[in-house]
Amino acid sequence: MTSKALIKVENLTGGYNETVILKDVSFEVYEGEILVILGTSGCGKTTLLKHLIGLLYPFSGKIYLLGHDLLSLPEKKAMILMRKIGVLFQNGALLNSITVADNVAIPYEQHTNLKTDLINQLVRLKLKLVGLPHAAELLPSELSGGMRKRAALARAIALDPPILFADEPAAGLDPVTAASLDRLLLDLRKLLGMTLVVVTHELTSIKRIADRILFLDKGRIAFLGTMEQAMASESEPVKKFFNP
Ligand SMILES: Nc1ncnc2c1ncn2[C@@H]1O[C@H](COP(=O)(O)OP(=O)(O)O)[C@@H](O)[C@H]1O
Ligand SMILES: [Mg+2]
Repeated sequence: MTSKALIKVENLTGGYNETVILKDVSFEVYEGEILVILGTSGCGKTTLLKHLIGLLYPFSGKIYLLGHDLLSLPEKKAMILMRKIGVLFQNGALLNSITVADNVAIPYEQHTNLKTDLINQLVRLKLKLVGLPHAAELLPSELSGGMRKRAALARAIALDPPILFADEPAAGLDPVTAASLDRLLLDLRKLLGMTLVVVTHELTSIKRIADRILFLDKGRIAFLGTMEQAMASESEPVKKFFNP
């Protein structure tokens, strides 16, 4: 079976200013899969995501998103490409002074010319999809941690992006809430045919959602493959992670 690569990273070396964080990283993410990025704190997971969504420019290497060369795309085309990418940041930053519905409406208002009525309908639909049909008129501060993640997720998928990036979506959630968030991610993949790149270090979560695992160690790929292969990996940091 050959799968289409929606994301292709070639020899990416990147980081901040003069600080190299990622070294010669190459991998592909296939259509419909959930790739989990793993590694100890500070190894470069968030930095890798920032490169993939164009927030950081690498020192060298290539990044292809949905067949487009991200780094040589003119700004306007890069903006259009970015609409096809959903991002759930670590701190799910919802605006606290406006309702959940108004938060989810932001991408439609910024990137479409849809009329208010239609936007409202789409917002309700997305909130229903993430299991928050009754939270539309609440303020983010009135939501539980798990509900806030769901609301942020509704906003991230507002424009039906084929690719969703999520940075530690379950961080700070209790195990039951984290499990239901994992199920939601699996449902979204199934319902919307999304491709997901998820940073996490919760072993239970990895077992639930990962098709493949990319293990970063000091900015390099220490392992890339399935959970089964990871358990049998000879790489020291990988062994240490799975058998601490
Ligand atoms: N804005 C920044 N400027 C310089 N260095 C940074 C910045 N953000 C993170 N770093 C450094 O990059 C390394 C990788 O960080 P990060 O990608 O956030 O790790 P992870 O997400 O795997 O915990 C760390 O050493 C961190 O201190
Ligand atoms: Mg991080």
